[in-house]
Amino acid sequence: DWTPDSFIETTIAALKEKLGDDKVVLGLSGGVDSSVAAVLLHHAIGANLHCIFVDNGLLRKDEYEQVLDSYKHMGLNIKGIDAKARFYDALAGLSDPEKKRKAIGRVFIEVFDDAAHEVQDVKWLGQGTIYPDIIESVSVKGPSATIKSHHNVGGLPDFMKLKVVEPLNTLFKDEVRRVGKALGIDPNILGRHPFPGPGLAIRILGDVTPQKVAILQEADAIYINNLRSYGVYDKVWQAGAIFLPVQSVGVMGDERTYENVICLRAVESLDGMTADWCHLPYDLLAKISNEIINNVKGINRVVYDISSKPPATIEWE
Ligand code: XMP
Repeated sequence: DWTPDSFIETTIAALKEKLGDDKVVLGLSGGVDSSVAAVLLHHAIGANLHCIFVDNGLLRKDEYEQVLDSYKHMGLNIKGIDAKARFYDALAGLSDPEKKRKAIGRVFIEVFDDAAHEVQDVKWLGQGTIYPDIIESVSVKGPSATIKSHHNVGGLPDFMKLKVVEPLNTLFKDEVRRVGKALGIDPNILGRHPFPGPGLAIRILGDVTPQKVAILQEADAIYINNLRSYGVYDKVWQAGAIFLPVQSVGVMGDERTYENVICLRAVESLDGMTADWCHLPYDLLAKISNEIINNVKGINRVVYDISSKPPATIEWE
C-alpha cells in the first residue's frame, strides 16, 4: 500500500543509487512541488543538491526573504539571486500578456543558466514535475515561467542539456502534500495557494512598472492576511489581488482623488481547469476594502470579481 513514509524511503534509496556522487541543480519556486522535490533530493545527496531561488521582482510582498529563510532553515544548500532589475527591464513597455510571459520565461532561463554554470561539473537538473504535469502537457495560457514548459524555446540553454531527475513524477498533488508533511516541511509552504510562474506581472493588466508592483504587493498582502486572520485562507483554492490600470474619481477628506482600482479574486477549484468564485462574507470584504483604500497610496476603489471559469479564467491575463 502507498504511504508517504514508504514512498519517502524507497525514493531516497532510489535517488542515492541513481545519483551517486553526482551534483544536481534545482530551481525552487516557493511552491509545494519544488520544495518537496528539493527536500527529498537533499535527504539523498545532501550538499550535492544545489538549489537556486530567483527573485524576479514579481513575487508577493516579502515572499523572497521569507521563503529563502525557511529553505535555509531546512538545511538546503540554496543560492538566492536578486534579478529584479533584469525582469523589470525586460518587461518595460510590454503590455501584451503573451509577450510579458515570453519575456519573463526568457529572462528566467538566462538567470538560471548563469547560476547553473557556477556549479562545477553538475550532471543533473532536478524538477518538481508531478504526474498531472505530464498528462496535461499543454499549459492553459501558453508557456509559464517554469523550466519545463520551455523545451521549445529554440536553442536549448546549457542547463537543459543536463539529465533530468523528477522524484515526484508519479504523484498527485494531495500525495505531494502528504509526503511534504511527513518530511516535516513548513505547513505554510505546503498549504500555499497556487501562484503563477509569471507572478504579479499577469495580475497587473497592461505594462508592468516597479511602482505598480509595489502597490499591488501592498494591496495583495492586506487581502491575503485578512483571509488568514478570518480563517478562510485554507478554504479558498486560490486568491490574489489584481491591479487595474483604469483611474476613477473618489474623495479623500476634502480632496478629489483620481486613482487606480484593485480587484479582488478568490476561487474554489479542484485543479484550476474550472473554478467558481468564492462567496466571501460581506464583512470580510468590507474590512479588506477599507484597509486597502486607507493604506495603499494610489488606490481609491476596490471591486470583487464574481466571474466563474469558464468562461472567465482565474487570472485576468
Ligand atoms: P487560468 O487563468 O488559465 O489559470 O484560469 C489556471 C491556473 O493556472 C495558473 N496560471 C499559470 N501558472 N504560468 C503558471 O505557472 C502561467 O503562465 C499561468 N497562467 C495561469 C493560474 O494561477 C491558475 O492557478
